[in-house]
Order: sequence, then C-alpha cells, then structure tokens
Amino acid sequence: MSLRERVAAELERTRRRSEILTDAVDDADLVRQHSPLMSPLVWDLAHIGNQEELWLVRDVGGREPVRQDIDHLYDAFKHARRDRPQLPLLGPAEARAYVSTVRDKVLDVVDRLPSDPARPLLRDGFAFGMIVQHEQQHDETMLATHQLRAGSPVLAADPPPSAVVAVGGEVHVPAGPFDMGTSTEPWALDNERPAHRVDVPAFWIDAAPVTNAQYAAFIDAGGYDQPRFWSAAGWEHRVAAGLEAPLHWTRDGGDWHATTFGRTAPIVPDAPVVHVCFHEAAAYAAWAGRRLPTEAEWEKAARFDPATGRSRRYPWGDDDPTPRHANLGQRHLRPASVGAYPDGASPLGVHQLIGDVWEWVDSGFLPYPGFSAFPYREYSEVFFGGDYKMLRGGSFGTDRAACRGTFRNWDHPIRRQIFSGFRTASSSGPA
Ligand SMILES: [Fe+2]
Repeated sequence: MSLRERVAAELERTRRRSEILTDAVDDADLVRQHSPLMSPLVWDLAHIGNQEELWLVRDVGGREPVRQDIDHLYDAFKHARRDRPQLPLLGPAEARAYVSTVRDKVLDVVDRLPSDPARPLLRDGFAFGMIVQHEQQHDETMLATHQLRAGSPVLAADPPPSAVVAVGGEVHVPAGPFDMGTSTEPWALDNERPAHRVDVPAFWIDAAPVTNAQYAAFIDAGGYDQPRFWSAAGWEHRVAAGLEAPLHWTRDGGDWHATTFGRTAPIVPDAPVVHVCFHEAAAYAAWAGRRLPTEAEWEKAARFDPATGRSRRYPWGDDDPTPRHANLGQRHLRPASVGAYPDGASPLGVHQLIGDVWEWVDSGFLPYPGFSAFPYREYSEVFFGGDYKMLRGGSFGTDRAACRGTFRNWDHPIRRQIFSGFRTASSSGPA
C-alpha cells in the first residue's frame, strides 16, 4: 500500500469511528453538555474538522480557508470545556457538513502529495498521522463523554475475550540501561522523541493491571478511610470530592456494580479496575505495601527485550497491534479480564500493558533530553511541568493509530472520567 493509500485509509477508518460516536445520539444529545468536564459532542466533531482544516487544508495544502470565522470557537486554548456550550457553535447539521467539506479537500490534497516531500511536516505523512491521531484522541474523549451521559444505552459491542491463561504476581525487571522513547517511529509525536538511554535500577512490577476484585478488597479494608495510605494532596482531594469507590461504582447490598455506557452490572472480578484517579491508584499501592511504577519503569517493562538489549515498538514485538495482541480501538466497551491476551505479553512476561486501561505512573510530564517542539509548542511543550501525571499504554477506547510502546498521555491527578487504571511496582520484590 502506498503512503497516499495508507493515509487516505486511516483518515476514512477514523472518520467512521467519529460517525459511530456522533450518529448514536440525537441532535439534542449532541449539543448537550453531559458533564462540566467534557465538551458537547458537537464541539468535538467540529473541532476535529477545524484542526484538520488548519493543518491539512491551509498549511499542507496551501488552500483557501473553509471557515476561518469559526477558528476561535474551536481553539481548545481559548475556551475551557465548561464554557463551550455557551458559544455560538455550529449545530449538528452544520458541523457534519463542515467536517465533510474539509475532508473532501484533504483527500484531494492527499492525491497530490509529492511522493518524496522535503518538508519535515510531510515526511512519512507525519502531518496526516498527527491529524489521524488527533481525531482518534477526540473519539476516545467522546467515548468518555458517552460514559458520562445519562439515559438509555446507545453504544453496543461484543464482550471482550475471557482469560485464557492465569496471570498474577510480579515480574522482576533486571537493573540496567534501556532505550526510552523513539527517533524512528514515523508518526510518533514530539514528546516521545528522541530515543535516549535511561539506566533503571532493578524493580518488580505487577504482571497485570490491578483488578476490580483487588481494588474492592482495598475498599473493604477501609482504604478510603485511612489517611496514611494517601498523599497529603490525595487525602485532601478524597475528602473534598467525597471519593469512596471508582467513578460509576455503586453498592447493591454487599456487592459492587459498575455502570458502563448506560448498563449497570456486577463488577467483573478479574478485569482491570477503571475510572480511578492517580490519587486512588497511589493510595491502593501504598495499602498493598507497594508504589506506582515510574514512567521509565513502565516503558522498560513494556519494551525492553533482555535477549537482544533492544527496545521493541510494542511489548510483543515490532508488529502493529491486532485483535490478538490487545484490547484497543473500541472493539469492546470495557477492559478484558487479566490473562485474555497472552500473545500481547512483553518478553519479561508482563501482560496487558497495551490496551484495556490507561495506566497511571508516578512521573510528571517532562521533555526527554534533546526534545524539540514539533510541529508547534502547543502540542506538548506548554504542558511540561504542569500539575499532571503520566498515563501509559492506552485503553479499550484508544485506537491503534494513537497507541505505541512510546506513546505518552498526561492528565491531572484528580481526573477519572478517563479510562484509567494502574498496576503497582516495588524496588524490593515480593514481600
Ligand atoms: Fe484537540
């Protein structure tokens, strides 16, 4: 497949997902704000089109603007999410017409793409890859909005696969340097670059993400009532926000239930816990006598191959993800049980690092040595050093185009409307 064909196929595959997410609800639901944390779905849709217009129609294509008059409405830096419903946004029909007009122009730009472009922005189709990833990231955000939406279910998918192997305990990761980040992945974003050596002391990491049953044991043991397991900031937030369990959990008699896209059912004991904030993850780890991994530890566990000393693109190797490897791409609407993806394990035997749940790690958002902003400061640089913790590995709602062993996500440590879970680590090994 030529680069042109691949770019066009990825753009179209991604647009079909955006359509599933926006066609699933009626116009009233598209313009409604389902949570102050989220934009109305119709904002995400037109914002996807606006970013595509800015980068691919105007910049790459050198074409006349389609709708310069609406740029300010869809500039994420100009209006906080909570304020977006009050803006004179494009309505559902206008937004759909706009994104489709932009897309027609972009496909024409793709057709005329030079086969060996000189501009760094166009090398390996980077600008198109960036826009595909941007749309996929907003699709995951829209999926999170669906999860916060009240009312009858509108999304459906097959259940994820069941466990086929028993996975538990901890994996020892030997001390030594490994290559973190990438200088070769064509569509990697600026914050994943460049590849650099990091020396990591020996550590142990959970072979699988922490499960619902494990997390329920933390709650039952009074984990939410004991400040000693929480950081000062974490405890303050726990009290102020009244946290008592993961978001979307309710107790029915003695049993925990979770509401998933409008359907309430008993929690799946052996599936990774989802919708916890960084503070909850860190408190669980302290209760378990452990800690969260650092970002470098997580990436070493995911990518380091002790046989060759090389870092892989993914835990299973260099091949792109398939349904055999990981629970990605909204094929299922919840995390799969631990042990469902033996073919996705890392060489050291760490499972389900990619897909299922984003994993909180105990590192802030900082540039790698040698970082340079590309193609614009607002992608990553303006967020460095902010009140963020990193999330790695992608969730069931993350598309394969927006997920790699090197991919870095970040959010505020109190956020849990995202598909976030975690695994724990220690420097001293099993107790
Ligand atoms: Fe965006």
